[in-house]
Amino acid sequence: MQFTQNSYKTPESLAQEKTQYAQTTEALSSAPDSEGSTSYTDSNDTIGQTSNITEYAQPEEANVSQPKVEASETKNQPAASYAAKTAVEADSNVNTDSKNIAGQSTAAVQTTSTSRSKYCLNDFSIVRTLGTGSFGRVHLVRSVHNNRYYAMKVLRKEQVVRMKQIAHTNDERRILKMVSFPFFIKMWGTFQDSRNLFMVMEYIEGGELFSLLRKSRRFPSPVAKFYASEVVLALEYLHSHDILYRDLKPENILLDKNGHIKIADFGFSKVVPDVTWTLCGTPDYIAPEVVASKPYNKSVDWWSLGVLIFEMLTGYTPFYSQSHMETYEKILRCEVQYPNYLSPTVIDLLQRLITKNLSLRLGNLNKGAADVKEHPWFAEVVWEKLLNRSIETPYEPPIRPGMGDSSQFELYKEEPVDYGTTGDDPLACYFPDF
Ligand SMILES: Nc1ncnc2c1ncn2[C@@H]1O[C@H](COP(=O)(O)OP(=O)(O)O)[C@@H](O)[C@H]1O
Ligand SMILES: [Mg+2]
Repeated sequence: MQFTQNSYKTPESLAQEKTQYAQTTEALSSAPDSEGSTSYTDSNDTIGQTSNITEYAQPEEANVSQPKVEASETKNQPAASYAAKTAVEADSNVNTDSKNIAGQSTAAVQTTSTSRSKYCLNDFSIVRTLGTGSFGRVHLVRSVHNNRYYAMKVLRKEQVVRMKQIAHTNDERRILKMVSFPFFIKMWGTFQDSRNLFMVMEYIEGGELFSLLRKSRRFPSPVAKFYASEVVLALEYLHSHDILYRDLKPENILLDKNGHIKIADFGFSKVVPDVTWTLCGTPDYIAPEVVASKPYNKSVDWWSLGVLIFEMLTGYTPFYSQSHMETYEKILRCEVQYPNYLSPTVIDLLQRLITKNLSLRLGNLNKGAADVKEHPWFAEVVWEKLLNRSIETPYEPPIRPGMGDSSQFELYKEEPVDYGTTGDDPLACYFPDF
């Protein structure tokens, strides 16, 4: 068996130039205002109420003892898909039936796109880089029409094609467009130039859960439980529509201005009514059935949830190693050392998620997500309130909402961009929907 080491994460760019675009064509002004007026005061009997917000407003002062294994301060990079296996990934027919999830009536997969005319580069000015992705960058941008801020993910076509990620990229666009749920980012539109693909999304101001976790070192149980519970609802929603997420990790979980999660990055998501085989994800979070090249389905996301909860509570991932190969070997052995400060209840949950035995893994059994939600560790969670986002969040990002505040994001060196190119575009045929 051979694993492709990730080698395509864009390195820090060198140049410092900031490119501005400011011409006028179509407006973003028709995009709905993403600012809601939800009140977050109802916290009776719910998780989150026990945690101390101010403690987390100053995460550098937050707890605790050193983890036994030093977590890498660098982000976990996704593993490249098996080139050979990518061929197996035929375009799936998206199931656009809106299934109702019990108690989640507000959630529905949109069956049709909003018929807004296409955006183009001239609709935005680029403010700064928010993150470097596998195939390009995510920028904070501002609409020249309504002056609001958005996040714009840019993928280089040539890179996407070279890394055999055409199907994944088209899936990312299609699934982002379908998904409509409080804990996922919204995408407003896409377009392309002769070299790049562009996705315009709502801008999530609070930064990555990754940054908060590294600053805090580890989260107290109620805090980890709050984020984990929102993730459980998000996975339940996706799975009820036969969508696998496949890249759950703190880097892909953003915090909105109130501190609720917004999961970004559908780069490895796929509609899978039956099974799939592709090796993809990020090494530390990949399930053993994926590493072992077995056919798999929703089980993989529940494994990653276990790894995520472990990481939130300890500050490191259970199979961490400098070498991806060694991480994969550890995953296949599935021997997890649970630190003694973890409660027996959460260890029980983690053992039922981080298990190689698919007929024992919670989430993958007859009752699906309900088995996870009913586990005693989640006993105090009032799921309906959580879904309505009426539970007080454990941490409110210290930002000024609506102002393009990007203080919660790491700084990246800016480089000149070649966006807006015209001319020969032999790769356009691979991305007809952008
Ligand atoms: N909608 C968004 N709002 C704010 N930041 C975002 C948004 N989408 C992505 N980012 C930032 O950009 C980073 C990379 O984006 P992502 O979609 O995860 O790319 P990749 O697939 O390459 O990992 C994220 O980890 C996050 O920091
Ligand atoms: Mg990502």
